[in-house]
Amino acid sequence: AQRPIIIQGPMPIEAENFAERLDKVKVEKSGTFVFYKGKVDNYPVIVVKTGKGMENTAAATALAIEKYDPIAIINQGTSGGHDPSLNVFDIVLGKKVTNIGSLKTGSLGENEGIEPTNWIPMDLMASEGSAGEDPDAENIRYYEGDKDLLAAAHAVKDKYTKGKIVEGTIGSADVWNNEVDRIKWFHENYGTSVEEMEGASAAQIATQYEVPSLVIRILSNNKTNGGQYNPDTAAANQEYVYEVVKQYISQI
Ligand code: 5AD
Repeated sequence: AQRPIIIQGPMPIEAENFAERLDKVKVEKSGTFVFYKGKVDNYPVIVVKTGKGMENTAAATALAIEKYDPIAIINQGTSGGHDPSLNVFDIVLGKKVTNIGSLKTGSLGENEGIEPTNWIPMDLMASEGSAGEDPDAENIRYYEGDKDLLAAAHAVKDKYTKGKIVEGTIGSADVWNNEVDRIKWFHENYGTSVEEMEGASAAQIATQYEVPSLVIRILSNNKTNGGQYNPDTAAANQEYVYEVVKQYISQI
């Protein structure tokens, strides 16, 4: 049997538009996760409404891999800009994805305060030992976007006319940053183009199972340049990702 392509979207507005484009859809549920199993160009594609955040995404990713043995996973949806040159409706292809909530604080005593700019990255996958003590864990872990998925995304770039499409670094955490200086700190120290709450989780689990993956995120807001939140971006991203999927299928 053909191994399906999984398309993940966290919120209803980030999954249902793609699900409506599938042919011959059957809906399956597991916990709060909804799987829309259908076809694109006669090839099996499963849209997954994962729910928001790192935990939902990790569970939905492992479950989808165990249940459906996918050939590839695309995690897609909205994001907030960290790069002032990116505008609402621009799309970032995740050349790299990283967990920006995985941090170790400095060592301070009582009444010495809280100093977030001194916190350092923590890589929970560095070793099986204590992340708090292991110097190898004081490192940013990046997951790379799959080359073939990136090639498919580039091949259909011109079909997207609502903004530009760039490769970049996507930062994920169960955090919504609204402090511009903190956003700048991530942009400078991690090289982030955008932030969201799912991509690095999907990429981590996909990597652990050796399934190719790519995160594709549209800016729905950008605090660094005054870009106001626009929920219509969620549908625009799915229209583009649909073209990416058709291209990827033609490459298989
Ligand atoms: N910060 C964090 N998450 C964001 N999202 C959109 N913009 C941002 C932002 N500025 C996405 C997350 C999550 C939901 C809140 O929208 O991925 O699913």
